Amino acid sequence: MRWANKKTRRRQRHPHIVWVLLLGLIVVAWRLYSNYGWWYALWLGPGDPPRSCVLPRIESPPDKDYPPKIGILCLRDTGRPNLARYAQLERFAEAALENKKRYASRHSYALVVADANAGNRPAPWAKLPALRRALPQFDWLLYIDGDALFANPEPRLEALVDDAYDVVISEDWGGYNTGVFLVKNSSFVAKLLDDMWDAGTRYGLAKPNKWWRHEMPFEFEQRALHFLTRSETWQASADRYGLPTVPPDVAAPIRDRIKVLPQCALNSYLVRPRLLPQDARHRAARYARGDFVVHLAGHKGANKAALLEYALDHLVRREV
Ligand SMILES: *[C@@H]1O[C@H](CO)[C@@H](O)[C@H](O)[C@H]1NC(C)=O
Repeated sequence: MRWANKKTRRRQRHPHIVWVLLLGLIVVAWRLYSNYGWWYALWLGPGDPPRSCVLPRIESPPDKDYPPKIGILCLRDTGRPNLARYAQLERFAEAALENKKRYASRHSYALVVADANAGNRPAPWAKLPALRRALPQFDWLLYIDGDALFANPEPRLEALVDDAYDVVISEDWGGYNTGVFLVKNSSFVAKLLDDMWDAGTRYGLAKPNKWWRHEMPFEFEQRALHFLTRSETWQASADRYGLPTVPPDVAAPIRDRIKVLPQCALNSYLVRPRLLPQDARHRAARYARGDFVVHLAGHKGANKAALLEYALDHLVRREV
């Protein structure tokens, strides 16, 4: 009894210690979660074995009467990044660009490095006018984001292009992802790129959401593609917030010109360590060893930088 009394007394004397410890634990847990980049990268380990959608290996440009002239386009921030969170990526911008240069030169594709300046819009919008300008020099043009890397240098782009379509892209659980895609030199694509840009002005798609109201899905120019194709994701937000939509008979012919490939063919993700449902679409999105491209989609700021460093050191094949 004396022992019990003593314990009770002690707890009464220091009740705040428990709360301080608990608060400390919450702060540490929160820091670990919000700066997950470094531990997540370590935890990722060597990744899963190669999957069936590894591209067919084409040793040299296919021997056709008319081999397609394929180029690669990426953006480079020349001025100050106009979004604070991109500043963290500057450290790795050169290494990421080097990865693209090596892939392009390995297969003798032209690499176009365009200025990531979209006037008063966030930098990713610059891919639209840049593609528009470069397109006439090529039959097909691959666009690849700054936070996407060629992880496996072997596949050739000839294995991806398909002249029955105008755009080749992949979809994640939210639909089209414009981090990596191919466009054909066609009047359809020229109009699509112009319409995407114009939708930014005409329908306010280039404006950020208000922080307290996530009205428009996605960010930047990807939003414009979802708008013009009236994707399920766009439609869901439109129903909820009364956003504008294009008529179905305008959207359907655009969707018909777009070929959707599995993500692991050209746009695998290092998926965020979130408590998401591990459904088939999330599993299919996930980068596995042997995949062509690894894209750090969805990660922001310091986490993206940590994962980009990890991908450059551990996922990208050295001999690219
Ligand atoms: C791309 O298309 C334009 C317009 O049709 C054409 O003038 C140009 O020659 C094409 N470029 C190539 C490389 O075929």
